[in-house]
Order: sequence, then C-alpha cells, then structure tokens
Amino acid sequence: MTAAVASSHTIALVTGGGGEIGRAIALRLAETAEAVAVVDLDLAAAEETAAAVEALGRRALAIRADVSDEADAAGYVEAAEQKLGPIGIFANNAGIEGVVAPLEDYPAEMFDRVMRVNVRGIFLGLKFVIPRMRQRGQGAIINTASTSAIRGRAGLAGYVASKHAVLGLTRTAALELIGSAIRVNAVLPGPIESRMIRELNRQAGADGSSLARAGSAPYGHPDDVAAVVALLASNQTRHVHGAAWVVDAGITVA
Ligand SMILES: NC(=O)c1ccc[n+]([C@@H]2O[C@H](COP(=O)([O-])OP(=O)(O)OC[C@H]3O[C@@H](n4cnc5c(N)ncnc54)[C@H](O)[C@@H]3O)[C@@H](O)[C@H]2O)c1
Repeated sequence: MTAAVASSHTIALVTGGGGEIGRAIALRLAETAEAVAVVDLDLAAAEETAAAVEALGRRALAIRADVSDEADAAGYVEAAEQKLGPIGIFANNAGIEGVVAPLEDYPAEMFDRVMRVNVRGIFLGLKFVIPRMRQRGQGAIINTASTSAIRGRAGLAGYVASKHAVLGLTRTAALELIGSAIRVNAVLPGPIESRMIRELNRQAGADGSSLARAGSAPYGHPDDVAAVVALLASNQTRHVHGAAWVVDAGITVA
C-alpha cells in the first residue's frame, strides 16, 4: 500500500451529510479537502451542511438522493464528480435506526427498510465510487457502522443485523482492493449525543433497559466520530485497511 489521500486538492463526499454525524464529518473533512459533496434524502439538511462548509471557505454541493436507490446512487456520484471533481474521500455514512422492539414484535417491513438503507445503501455507494477511484488509483473510503456491528443489542434486530453487514461489506471491499492505494475502513461509534440516540432512548421507554449502556461511559459527540473519519481519510493512516475502528469510550471492551 502506498499513498492515500487528503490534500487541499481532494474532493470529499459524505452521505447522510445532513445528519448530525454526517455534518460533523463534512466540516472536519472541509479542513483539508478542496470541496465537499453533501448527499442526503433531506435536501434542506444537506444544503445547511453545504452552507456551513462554504462558510469555511471551501466549495460545496448539496445533492438530494436516496442512497438505497440504484439510479440515485449512480447519480450522486456522477453529479459530485461532474460539478466538483474526482472523489478522493468517500464517507459512506447514511443510516437509519428503525424501531425498538423485541424480535417477535419487530415489523418485517421495518426490518426490510433498515436493511435497505443501511446495507444496500452502503453497498451501492461502494459499487459506484470504487470504479472511479480505481481509474485514478487512489482513494479513502470510510463506512459508518456502529458498535452494533460487533455486539448484539436487545430490541434492535434490524439495526444490529444491518451494521454487522456493513462490517462484512467493509472487509469484502478491503480484500478486493488489497495492494491498491484505495483504502476501505469502518468506523464503529458507540452511543453519540444525537437525534438518533434520543429517538432510540425515547422508544426504549422510561426504564430504557433494552438499550442500557455499559458502565458509566459517557455519550460521545458527533465530532468524536468525525475526527476519526478524518484520520482514516488522511495519509497518516496509509497502512490501515479493512479495519473496524471503534469510537465508544470503552463500551465494547468488556
Ligand atoms: N447517533 C449515534 O449514536 C450513532 C451511533 C453509531 C452509529 N451511528 C451511525 O452514524 C450514521 C449517521 O447517524 P446520525 O446519528 O448522524 O443520524 P441522523 O439521523 O442525524 O443522520 C442520518 C442522515 O441520513 C439521512 N438519510 C436517511 N436515509 C437516507 C437515505 N435513504 N438516503 C440518503 N440519506 C438518508 C437522513 O436524512 C439524515 O440526515 C448512521 O449510519 C448511524 O447508524 C450513529
């Protein structure tokens, strides 16, 4: 493995970039990248992030797309490259939480929906970005998984299954790209102070027992995740490939 990326000429693309972690990633990457494409189902949220990137003096593009739709996925990659330039950093980050329910009550339609966004969406991002990076012989891809990729969590069947799959996709992509200068890694956040975790806690109810946290580890901040994504996108981690990088204040140690 030789070079990776992250220079002032790099174009970054972040899916789910209108969300809390995605926005933090976009802003972190904007510290070194020349431009950031912000993809989200929610165009207004993507535009808000793009405006924040522009306020840092970088170019930005907001793109509305459903990451789980094949034509949309091909389209966001094409639009970003046409309007900004070759994608050097791809933060494959969009995801949804689904619902909190024991397996026997977990609606099959919701299971399908979570798998569609969190697995098919990540797969399609890889499918359309990798060939572009192969043409240029370099790139850094960071898939957002979760500590739910390496632990079961009662009440979160769809989410846990989907995040285990994100790790499987990361490892498969890494093997397919081994020896190239395109690196693929996964970031595995524990609970982050965010809309998603507030929603899961609300659904878990007053006792919240099904989602109880280990010990007294504090929630992280979206930027705690973004800082690791930026590191994995940089040349400093040029020897890191196929890794599952946990960001959880030690929750999964035990
Ligand atoms: N918040 C946490 O505690 C936590 C912990 C571990 C992992 N994660 C993961 O981090 C990622 C970002 O989560 P977040 O906390 O920022 O959540 P969020 O809900 O704030 O952001 C997710 C964003 O993805 C967008 N999105 C949803 N479905 C989409 C689709 N089909 N196509 C395009 N965009 C879509 C949403 O509009 C939203 O802006 C997710 O993959 C999530 O599973 C979050």
